Amino acid sequence: MTAARVRILGFGMGPQHVTPEVAAALGECDYAIAVQKGDEDALLEARRAVCEAYGVELVVVRDPERDRSPGLDRSAYEGAVADWYAARLAAYRAVLDGRGGTCAFLVWGDPSLYDGTIRIVRELDVPFDVLPGVSAPQVLAARHRIVLHEVGQPVHVTTARRLRADVAARQRNLVVMLTAGVDLEGFEDWTIWWGANLGGVGERLVSGRVGDVVGVIEDARAAAKAEAGWVMDLFLLRGPEA
Ligand SMILES: C[S@@+](CC[C@H](N)C(=O)[O-])C[C@H]1O[C@@H](n2cnc3c(N)ncnc32)[C@H](O)[C@@H]1O
Repeated sequence: MTAARVRILGFGMGPQHVTPEVAAALGECDYAIAVQKGDEDALLEARRAVCEAYGVELVVVRDPERDRSPGLDRSAYEGAVADWYAARLAAYRAVLDGRGGTCAFLVWGDPSLYDGTIRIVRELDVPFDVLPGVSAPQVLAARHRIVLHEVGQPVHVTTARRLRADVAARQRNLVVMLTAGVDLEGFEDWTIWWGANLGGVGERLVSGRVGDVVGVIEDARAAAKAEAGWVMDLFLLRGPEA
């Protein structure tokens, strides 16, 4: 038996962001599936809260181990990632084949931003649809009561790893995600609107001239982590001449 259908559902940062459209879809699902990363997985707990709020069974799949041995060369690293990805795919497939029915994949934020669910479900080769959720950049903008760009101007969404290359390519108004330990040296005269753990335990907000607030952000990030046991942060960074 194969799952009749998969529904990829963005649920924002928790039950408070579940839209009526996603709530109705959840009501039609037979179960939801989620991976557990490690023993304490805050994102799994958020999925559990959504499932409890909407009376959907949650099937938890342990994230397959990935070879994280130090000193892997590039091809060994790529091989380890490919093996891990294939094992995760097989774990999903086993649940779908075993249970059939309609299965929800609950996506943190919105499935269109830095999330692999659509890609992985495509590979499962089952019919699926996607419903949007509230993304972290939207919550950031709302909390700071700002528009993400100046009137009629663009906003560039990127990762911390790409930040300097994107700025070298003349981007001047950037939403920066996947920010573990970002280095803002050289951006002292830029303006930042930063947020951590938005919509959840330990939420923190800081804004101002980078040179004035960089230390405040570091402290706020540490405080968010101490309060919640985890931290996720992102920011809008705007150049003086944007
Ligand atoms: C893997 S991406 C997933 C993004 C998600 N699909 C979305 O729509 O927001 C995770 C990154 O999004 C940002 N993020 C997600 N949730 C957040 C939150 N509640 N507070 C602050 N940043 C968050 C962080 O930059 C984090 O590293």
